[in-house]
Amino acid sequence: MSVKIVIGTQWGDEGKGKIVDLLSETADVVARYQGGANAGHTVEIGDRRFILHLLPAGILRPNTVCVIGNGVVVDPAALLHEIDMVRKEGIEIEGRLKISHNAHLIMPYHKKLDSLRERGANKIGTTGRGIGPAYIDKAQRVGIRIVDLLNRDYLEQRIRMNLTEKNQILARIYRSEELDVESIITEYQEFDRLIDPYVTDTSLFINTAISEGKRILLEGAQGTLLDLDHGTYPYVTSSNPISGGACVGLGIPPTCIDEIVGVSKAYFTRVGEGPFPTEETGGIGEELREHGDEFGATTGRPRRCGWFDAFAMRYSTLINGCTSLALTKLDVLGAFDTIPVCIGYKLEGRLLKSFPTAARILEQVEPVYQTHPGWKSDISQITRWEDLPVEARQYVRTISEMVQVPVSLLSVGPKRRQTIIVPEE
Ligand code: GDP
Ligand code: IMO
Ligand code: MG
Repeated sequence: MSVKIVIGTQWGDEGKGKIVDLLSETADVVARYQGGANAGHTVEIGDRRFILHLLPAGILRPNTVCVIGNGVVVDPAALLHEIDMVRKEGIEIEGRLKISHNAHLIMPYHKKLDSLRERGANKIGTTGRGIGPAYIDKAQRVGIRIVDLLNRDYLEQRIRMNLTEKNQILARIYRSEELDVESIITEYQEFDRLIDPYVTDTSLFINTAISEGKRILLEGAQGTLLDLDHGTYPYVTSSNPISGGACVGLGIPPTCIDEIVGVSKAYFTRVGEGPFPTEETGGIGEELREHGDEFGATTGRPRRCGWFDAFAMRYSTLINGCTSLALTKLDVLGAFDTIPVCIGYKLEGRLLKSFPTAARILEQVEPVYQTHPGWKSDISQITRWEDLPVEARQYVRTISEMVQVPVSLLSVGPKRRQTIIVPEE
């Protein structure tokens, strides 16, 4: 039995797509458990670059079965578009994709409400994919699920019911145009035969695969600091990207989890609003953005950049129970003479004992840095640990010690071959 979870330890975009693709070489099943098309997971294979939003990154390996679990919110149009995109690249999907009958649907009114709510002063900087409003409906118990697509009459009834309320909200609260119920019913009724081949009880499928000794990889989206419960609320997403979310989002027991791989960038980034104590807003931030090509894979927005925050990372590895780390984008730091790492926060002159998640507090903390010597060279073609400059190895070992989790994989570029296995100390 082997069940491995890959999670983001920061504010997303840590390079999960690359790491999941690497690890899925030896996986039988790869499953997504939360989020939706707000995710943008990049995988580079040779000259080809794929950005996956809903399909698990394992889809690019010919022999894996991919699962979209009950915890994911699915935009059927986005999903079908993505299936088309990978098919055009010669990737066979038939028999390899399973979607949970219990997964909730993103509806046109979710996307509209998402963008309208972002117009005010309290905006979160969402991806505009309708994620928050879809999870609200799920918790409100008025959501429409994948299984409902397979019953046209029931689907029509639910859409009519929901739109009666949503259109009032759109018109009265947001003074926006109402949505046309008939066209939404027609559009969603058409999805039944297109989605039907993939719909199944994915919890039963994965539990059976586990009992047969299959190798399972669970692909988190977003990151720990964007977690609805444990992130920097309210500047978070509306699901639970942490490792604990995998069991809920797939219907598997915590006792089956063997390994938890935390993916971390060698520095920090964030897209959208919210506190970011180690952010560099001047020239250094721009340099990091330029060298790291830090632009959102889903929205194209420039990512905010800053130094590695070991204090936030320790919090993150603790609540995820990371058994190892995959440290990505180490190559990007080759441009700097010295590399500061944040080792703690001060608030009103006092060192904090634990990571504060409240945005109000995080906005006021002052990071305390330890400075490391840079290696000032291009390491992107190095494939062996012992060939790395000593300063780079030291940087990795220091992070590992601070965070109290071994770094087992290093990534020095977006391609599969730009990966280094770190020997145990
Ligand atoms: P994800 O959402 O966690 O899958 O990450 P994204 O795909 O949104 O962003 C990571 C970006 O960094 C992508 O463009 C990757 O191709 C790229 N990338 C991944 N690992 C490395 C690395 O080690 N070095 C460099 N320079 N780029 C990387
Ligand atoms: P991957 O899986 C980075 C951010 C948004 C916004 C907040 C809420 O590629 O790492 P949402 O649309 O989820 O309601 O937006 O979360 N966000 C991400 N940031 N990577 C992601 O996914 C993200 N998904 C959402 O920018 O700040
Ligand atoms: Mg991303």
